[in-house]
Amino acid sequence: MKIDTSLSMPQLPEALSHAGLQFTVATEEDFEDIMAMSQDIYGGLDYLPTRYTSWLQETNRIVILARKHGKVIGLESVCVIDEGETVLVEGLRVAPQERGKGVAGVLLRFCSELVKSRFPEVKVTRLTRDDQLGPKDYQKYRIITKQGILLVRFRAEELKQRLSELGVGEDLHYPMINSSQRAGPLRLDHPTIQRLFLGTDLMQPILPNATIIQDWQPFKLLSSNMAILLKKDIDWMVDDLSNPSVASLCTFPFSVPIGDNWYYLNIDMFGKDVGLVRQQFLGHLQRHTSSLKGHVMCQMFLEPQLWESMAHFCQHTLGVELVKEYREQCVVEADIV
Ligand SMILES: CC(C)(COP(=O)(O)OP(=O)(O)OC[C@H]1O[C@@H](n2cnc3c(N)ncnc32)[C@H](O)[C@@H]1OP(=O)(O)O)[C@@H](O)C(=O)NCCC(=O)NCCS
Repeated sequence: MKIDTSLSMPQLPEALSHAGLQFTVATEEDFEDIMAMSQDIYGGLDYLPTRYTSWLQETNRIVILARKHGKVIGLESVCVIDEGETVLVEGLRVAPQERGKGVAGVLLRFCSELVKSRFPEVKVTRLTRDDQLGPKDYQKYRIITKQGILLVRFRAEELKQRLSELGVGEDLHYPMINSSQRAGPLRLDHPTIQRLFLGTDLMQPILPNATIIQDWQPFKLLSSNMAILLKKDIDWMVDDLSNPSVASLCTFPFSVPIGDNWYYLNIDMFGKDVGLVRQQFLGHLQRHTSSLKGHVMCQMFLEPQLWESMAHFCQHTLGVELVKEYREQCVVEADIV
């Protein structure tokens, strides 16, 4: 799907004349203003600084800003996925001094009107939340799935040392498609990912509600979504090609605003076998911390019932620090009416 990137305000649906807010499409020049109002968000793990430029170039996405007297006070992005059926709402934020006054609600409603007029074929809006949902949210949204969130931090150099003491080595390999020989978690190449996730039903029972959630973004198993996913720098792993029970996706480490030399590693883990989950977790850590120097925040999303044992493993076997107690990532959706 192509969006008219020349979209300008006169073409947007009439601003809903809410509380003196104006809405504009974000541009490169707005970056500093957006960062200025984003300083404290997501516990310093904001992904927007590293994604902003590419978001502006994505043809299936619009980034909308709310302005008051011309000043940027809110942002939300809408991204059309699932072959045009779903709009993914992401990046929502309001400047600290403007919170609690209904700005997010107005911005969400504006974006919803925008989506209806620009993408009339979109039927559903989806978003991922990690805050406590209230009764009003349960009226508004259907729950698609939930994953536990395990957040740990460590120094890359120390973890590297610990992994080598534990004998975790670089033994992950790309599978040979027709080979029956395999050992440990397998890192997948693109053709194998396509074949396994789209060409078979093998992944459906492993994925929560048959959804690939990658770094907060929920995707149905569709080829247009796979095209989006395969453009990203992600490592994909499974335990077994012919009878998989655990799969995982790991980002390459990226800088986050929490401080200099701080990196973020996002691991989405699917499947219930704790031993296999541990193996893939170690595989990702080994690969992505071996050449890294600095602090790492590693967030793993996993089956809620595995949280406790993986948190224990992280603290007592890997010796890394647990940053937060149990939290949940919740994928929700609502029909566009
Ligand atoms: C969350 C945040 C955007 C709320 O902004 P706000 O202007 O104070 O919120 P409002 O006063 O408009 O009230 C809340 C409205 O936003 C919605 N909302 C609140 N948090 C939301 C979230 N995380 N995702 C989607 N909608 C949310 C509420 O459901 C409500 O909608 P309603 O008007 O239909 O009832 C703001 O506190 C913020 O920027 N926080 C830091 C960034 C953040 O946590 N973003 C959430 C990303 S998941």
